[in-house]
Amino acid sequence: MSGNDKLWGGRFSESTDAFVEDFTASVAFDQRLYRHDIAGSRAHALMLARCGIISDDDCQQILAGLDKVIAEIESGDFKWSVSLEDVHMNIESRLTALIGDVGKKLHTARSRNDQVATDIRLYLRDEIDFIIDEAKRLQASLLDLAEAQAATIMPGFTHLQTAQPVTFGHHMLAWHQMLLRDVDRLLDARKRVNQLPLGAAALAGTSYPIDREFVAEQLGFDGVCENSLDAVSDRDFAIEFVAVSSILLMHLSRFSEELILWASAQFDFIDLPDRFCTGSSIMPQKKNPDVPELVRGKTGRVTGHLMGLLMLMKAQPLAYNKDNQEDKEPLFDSIDTVKACLRVYADMMPTVKVKPDNMRAAALKGYATATDLADYLVRKGIPFRDAHEVVGRSVAYAVEQEKDLAELSLAELQQFYAGIDEGVFAVLTLEGSVNAREHIGGTAPTAVRAAVAKQRQLLKS
Ligand code: ARG
Repeated sequence: MSGNDKLWGGRFSESTDAFVEDFTASVAFDQRLYRHDIAGSRAHALMLARCGIISDDDCQQILAGLDKVIAEIESGDFKWSVSLEDVHMNIESRLTALIGDVGKKLHTARSRNDQVATDIRLYLRDEIDFIIDEAKRLQASLLDLAEAQAATIMPGFTHLQTAQPVTFGHHMLAWHQMLLRDVDRLLDARKRVNQLPLGAAALAGTSYPIDREFVAEQLGFDGVCENSLDAVSDRDFAIEFVAVSSILLMHLSRFSEELILWASAQFDFIDLPDRFCTGSSIMPQKKNPDVPELVRGKTGRVTGHLMGLLMLMKAQPLAYNKDNQEDKEPLFDSIDTVKACLRVYADMMPTVKVKPDNMRAAALKGYATATDLADYLVRKGIPFRDAHEVVGRSVAYAVEQEKDLAELSLAELQQFYAGIDEGVFAVLTLEGSVNAREHIGGTAPTAVRAAVAKQRQLLKS
C-alpha cells in the first residue's frame, strides 16, 4: 500500500482519492486570505521566539522566508496546489521548500483551526474598514444632494399615494440616516470580529508557554478569545457581518426601487446619466436603470448567504468541524457584493439629475396640502376629527370640479366651513406646507439645511 505525502499524511496508508482531494480543498477560494495568513504567521513566529519556544535565529529565517513567499504570491510566481488543500498548507509548504526544515517549526503551538479563524477575522476587519469608508463616501454625496435640493418640493408618499409635500433634500436625508445606522452596526460588529483566536490551537489550547496577548497586540486585536473551544468553532462574527450587510443592502434596495420609479416616464423625477444605464437590444427607445436594478437584485443574494451561514452553523457540535470551511464563499461573496454596491452608488449619486419642475407638478396633483387645511381649521378652533371631515368634503368637491384645493375660491371653501378666510391660501401652497415643518427632523428647507450641517460634522468624526 502506498503512503500519503500530505503535511498530515503520517497516519495514512493510502493516498487521497483524486476526487476527494478536489472535494475537500479550499485553496481555490481561500487563497485570498494569503496576506492575513502570513501576517498571522509572522506574529506567531515572533511570539514563539519571545517565549523561547523557537530560537531567534529560527524566527528570523521564518520571517525572511515569509517575505519571499508573499513576494512570490504578489508577483504571480507562486504555484497554488490543490493537493496542498488550502491557503495555510500551500504557504507553509512553500516556506519549508524555501528555508528548509526550520519552516516546519512555524506550526508549533498552532493548528489550522485557530489559524483559519484568525485569518478570517483579520481579513474581515480590513474589509469592514473599507466598507465603512465607502458607505461614508455615499453619505457625503447624499448630504451634498440634500443641500443642493433643500428647497425642491416633491410629493411625499404613503402607500405610494401622494400624502404630503416634502423636500427632495429631506428625502435624501432619510437615506442618509439609514446608512448612518448601517455604519454604526458595522462598527459594533467589528468589535466582536476583532478578538484573537490564535492560541486555541486545535481546540483545547496548547501545552507550550505561549503569550496570546503579545500576538493580539502585534495584530491589532482588541483582546483574545476567552475560550479555546469557542474560538475555533464559532463563526457568529461572520454571520453578524452578513446580517448587517443584508440590512445595509435592504436599504440600498429600497433606494434602488425609488430611483427606478423616479427614472420612469410615469414619474420622470430624475435622470440617470447614460454611463449608469444600458439600452435594449430590441427596443431602441429604452434606457434601462440597470445599476439600481442590479443592486436591488444583489440584495437577495446576500440575504441568501445569511440564511446559508445560519444553516451551516446551526447543528454543529463543538468544536471545529470541516463544515466551517463552507463559511468562506458566502462571506467573501457578501463582502464583494456590498463593496461593489456601495461603490457604484457612491459614484452614481453625484451624477443624478433632479427634475424639480416635474416633482412640483406631481406634488400639486394629489391634494398634498389637505392635512395643512385641516391643521388650519384646528387653529380656528375646530376639533381635529371634525376638521378632517370638513377637508374630506372639500377634497371630494375639488375632485369633482377637477381643481386643486388652492384653486378653489374663498366662497367655494366657505361652503364647508364659514370661518375660513383669505389666510387659508398661504397654507394651501406647497411652500407654505413644507415651510411650516421646520422642527428637527421636519421637511422645511431650513430644517434640511440645519440637518445637513449637523450630519456633515458627524461624518467627519
Ligand atoms: N481549510 C480549512 C477551513 O477553511 C482550514 C482548517 C482545517 N482544519 C482541519 N482540521 N481540517 O476551515
